[in-house]
Amino acid sequence: MEIKSAEFVISNTNVKKCPAGDLPEYAFIGRSNVGKSSLINMLTGKKGLAMTSQKPGKTMLINHFLINGQWYLVDLPGYGFAQRGKEGRENIQRIIEDYILEREQLTNLFVLIDCRHEPQKIDLEFMEWLGENGIPFSLIFTKTDKISKSRLQENLKAYQTKLLESWEELPPILLSSSEKKEGRDEILNYIDEINKS
Ligand code: GTP
Ligand code: MG
Repeated sequence: MEIKSAEFVISNTNVKKCPAGDLPEYAFIGRSNVGKSSLINMLTGKKGLAMTSQKPGKTMLINHFLINGQWYLVDLPGYGFAQRGKEGRENIQRIIEDYILEREQLTNLFVLIDCRHEPQKIDLEFMEWLGENGIPFSLIFTKTDKISKSRLQENLKAYQTKLLESWEELPPILLSSSEKKEGRDEILNYIDEINKS
């Protein structure tokens, strides 16, 4: 799929103030610093579209980006960032949960996982919560440029084995490197297929 236009539309803490209408949307979620905002920039080919940082906790709002005037990419705050304090964490948690549970236009949620790490409790519990609430999701393993191809295969296998302890079926799994611009066509085609169906 070709990206002809990508525009920032609005930032919110309140799901009720997200754009009206019935355009489908695809949101990115995952631990702080996993690379959600960087991936939006890589997919759209616009470097500064979503704000990124080396420090976790950069994205604090629900951000809507209109793509080709037809669908939205949505950048969400990350979860699990310890330094935000209890109140800050609870606030972010509420924003994320309200958006995911209430936003009818949400067509698919991409849960981003840093490919370097072993399965983390916080991600597994989050996926369980998605399952309990019937939210369709896919996984994107990020930062694949940071490890060797063989290590990546080992980590992917270990992750799938872990998931199969609690899931009957694996979710769709995609890979990305925003640094090397890898995974772009696969992710955009994946979205395109859902949009067409
Ligand atoms: P929050 O908004 O804090 O939740 O973080 P985020 O998930 O949006 O992460 P962000 O895109 O801001 O990226 C965090 C850091 O990881 C930045 O320093 C990025 O440059 C780096 N990064 C993101 N994706 C990649 C990648 O694919 N490869 C490499 N090497 N670095 C990446
Ligand atoms: Mg971000």
